[in-house]
Amino acid sequence: MLTSPLVLLASLGAGLVQAQQNTLDDLFVENAPSSPRPYVIPHYANSHSVTIGPQLYRFPVTGPSSGYAFTLMGTNAPSSGNLGVLPHIHRRHYENFFALKGRFQLWAQKDGNEQQGRLLTQGDFGSVPATPPTPSKCWILIPRWDLFYALGTNYSSGTDTAYVPSVSHGPGTPSSYIMSQLQRYDVYPETFKARRDFVNGSAPSHNTVWHTGSNELGAPAKPYFLAGGYGPKYLNSDHGYQIIQPLVEPKQAQDLNYTISTISLSRQTKNSPPSYTLDGAAAFEVAEGALSIQIGDFPLVTIMTGDVAFIPAQVPFTYYTETAFTKVLFIASGNNSLDQQLINGGNKWDWVTFPSTKHT
Ligand SMILES: *[C@@H]1O[C@H](CO)[C@@H](O)[C@H](O)[C@H]1NC(C)=O
Ligand SMILES: *[C@@H]1O[C@H](CO)[C@@H](O)[C@H](O)[C@H]1NC(C)=O
Ligand SMILES: *[C@@H]1O[C@H](CO)[C@@H](O)[C@H](O)[C@H]1NC(C)=O
Ligand SMILES: *[C@@H]1O[C@H](CO)[C@@H](O)[C@H](O)[C@H]1NC(C)=O
Repeated sequence: MLTSPLVLLASLGAGLVQAQQNTLDDLFVENAPSSPRPYVIPHYANSHSVTIGPQLYRFPVTGPSSGYAFTLMGTNAPSSGNLGVLPHIHRRHYENFFALKGRFQLWAQKDGNEQQGRLLTQGDFGSVPATPPTPSKCWILIPRWDLFYALGTNYSSGTDTAYVPSVSHGPGTPSSYIMSQLQRYDVYPETFKARRDFVNGSAPSHNTVWHTGSNELGAPAKPYFLAGGYGPKYLNSDHGYQIIQPLVEPKQAQDLNYTISTISLSRQTKNSPPSYTLDGAAAFEVAEGALSIQIGDFPLVTIMTGDVAFIPAQVPFTYYTETAFTKVLFIASGNNSLDQQLINGGNKWDWVTFPSTKHT
């Protein structure tokens, strides 16, 4: 009588071992992996960090970790009136800037047009396309994480500090000699002088709207700035409320075939969130609140401000929030990713807040 239960237990045990369940420990990594797989990198984790003067750079998503879809780099630095990098162009790389917290100044100048500068504060965005040498049109979207590895000093902190408070506030700017050596990383120094005549966060201050009115996404291949909440917005009501604010749409990305949006989620009202499987790699970075996400065979995880979740192409995932308001930055390869699907399933919306009637 005792034998069969024992056999049953033994075979159950063997089955569990063979299934090799992915665990939370497998999902959480300190550094972006060398090939695509689902992972989560906590805010201020090492993420291959390097320092360049007082600036500390982290790389939650790299070329190798995303299958060469995109790089996600975090920069922290103490306040300084000096330029963080010398004026330069990239001939093949698009660069986009999102202020997760704090503030920084960004300048862009295109084709002899008037130079534009903005002071970006939390939630603001700037897009700077490549400046290809005519007639080449060979653009790519992988900012050079390897450039920073080459230029920076590897850094590791026992306290996950955002940046090193004791580093001198020195120039923090690579010398023009170093810059001239960087063409193989698609960095070409430019002679333009960063203008300093900012008024109310904008230079020029006439004929610009910055934190006072609507901003539109730019024309293809043109730099543009979107103040947080002042760009176009869409409301999707399929599963709770989601407000999608596109930062880069397929039109701006052109041949580069990627999109960037913020997505604000209301507390979910249905039990089972929809599952998505995307054609391209995607990443969420939490800007506010807490996002629960379940990727592939990994257990459900809840990530918070600054944490990054990476989803490889073709791996199913679901997400939702139990908070009243959670906002994420969403970056994706392809021109029909989650943000575009939510926009297509939603309607134009003028507000950064959800409707006052509950969605059921
Ligand atoms: C710095 O880190 C990179 C990436 O983690 C590694 O490839 C390189 O060998 C490191 N360099 C030094 C000097 O430790
Ligand atoms: C700057 O902001 C102040 C306060 O809103 C306003 O009175 C002033 O006209 C602004 N200056 C410019 C140049 O827009
Ligand atoms: C998306 O890309 C496909 C080719 O991959 C193209 O046919 C389609 O027009 C693109 N859609 C948009 C909105 O750019
Ligand atoms: C656009 O990106 C998606 C996802 O990465 C990919 O499946 C598709 O082939 C790409 N299309 C083009 C035209 O590059």
